[in-house]
Amino acid sequence: MQHAELSSPPDIFRRGLRLGVVSIAFMVATVHAQTVAPILIEFSHVVKPDTPKGKAAQRFKELAESRTAGRVRVEIHPDSRLYKDREELDALRRGAVQILAPSLSKLAGVGGGDMEVFDLPFLFKDQAAFRAVTQGPVGTAMLRKLEKNGILGLAYWENGFKVFTANRALNDPRDVRGLRVRVQASRVLVAQMNVLGARSSVSPLIDVRAALRHGELDGQENTPSNIYTQKLHEAQTHLTVTKHGYLGYAVIVNQRFWLGLPAGIRATLEGAMRDATAYANQIAEAENIEALRLIAASGRIAVSKPTVQELERWRDAMAPTYSATSSWINADTLAAVKQAAGAPP
Ligand code: LMR
Repeated sequence: MQHAELSSPPDIFRRGLRLGVVSIAFMVATVHAQTVAPILIEFSHVVKPDTPKGKAAQRFKELAESRTAGRVRVEIHPDSRLYKDREELDALRRGAVQILAPSLSKLAGVGGGDMEVFDLPFLFKDQAAFRAVTQGPVGTAMLRKLEKNGILGLAYWENGFKVFTANRALNDPRDVRGLRVRVQASRVLVAQMNVLGARSSVSPLIDVRAALRHGELDGQENTPSNIYTQKLHEAQTHLTVTKHGYLGYAVIVNQRFWLGLPAGIRATLEGAMRDATAYANQIAEAENIEALRLIAASGRIAVSKPTVQELERWRDAMAPTYSATSSWINADTLAAVKQAAGAPP
């Protein structure tokens, strides 16, 4: 008893110590959980999820989240739900979102002036020619120019060749004259429509369907995948498969955010982006072939494929776009792009 009494203070002391250790361990675990709360990456874009870009964004999310074992969470905001074109670039620069994949047509205001060259008509004979430019040194140099605006270019994603739709048959380039045609925010595309004698109207994609329906627009140009998923074919009577221009994207991030990521996480995300890019560029052409098939099968619009001679007329009619834009399209850039694409000088 005496022995027990004598030994009781150290027991109490030991119990207290155990409790203390447990509490400290709990606190450490809580702090740890707080410090490893997932890094949130918001990826905003302006097309439907069921498009080459939408699917590639989803693939990036899946790869990024699984390979970082939950340390990164990617939230995708498609179809301009968060921002339209111009707003999304502002949002990226101020860090309100972290990733975008805008079309190359829209980057002139943030150091992507050289990328305007991609909008010149009939520049690429096929997707491989576009890829030869974007995946080579010319494409890399163009991405680097975004950095002075706090933007890092991670990759190029492909979509496909644009076609024209209108509320009248476009059998010949002269049929476009006088039409009010929506284009993306690109001076080259405005010049291209001027050359064709059309009135161009710059607007965000999300507004195009309503404008076509209400008669504010007569026509537009886009890839079959964008036309089909935005249901633009339901608001137009005719589609002509001109394939006159190429729509591609730059995947861009807020530089400060990206470089501030832990190095291991950043490397993992860059690997995820590489694989998402391979996926994007592998599915894009087939997605557009399928979208064109679905558009034709819908019976809502007449689809016509110009003959080789008719396509020559489109090419000739749009050729003056090159001289009309020569005061701001850098001749050396154009020559480098043509060379990389294997096009005649
Ligand atoms: C458009 O505005 O038509 C395209 O840039 C949309 C897109 O991102 O494909």
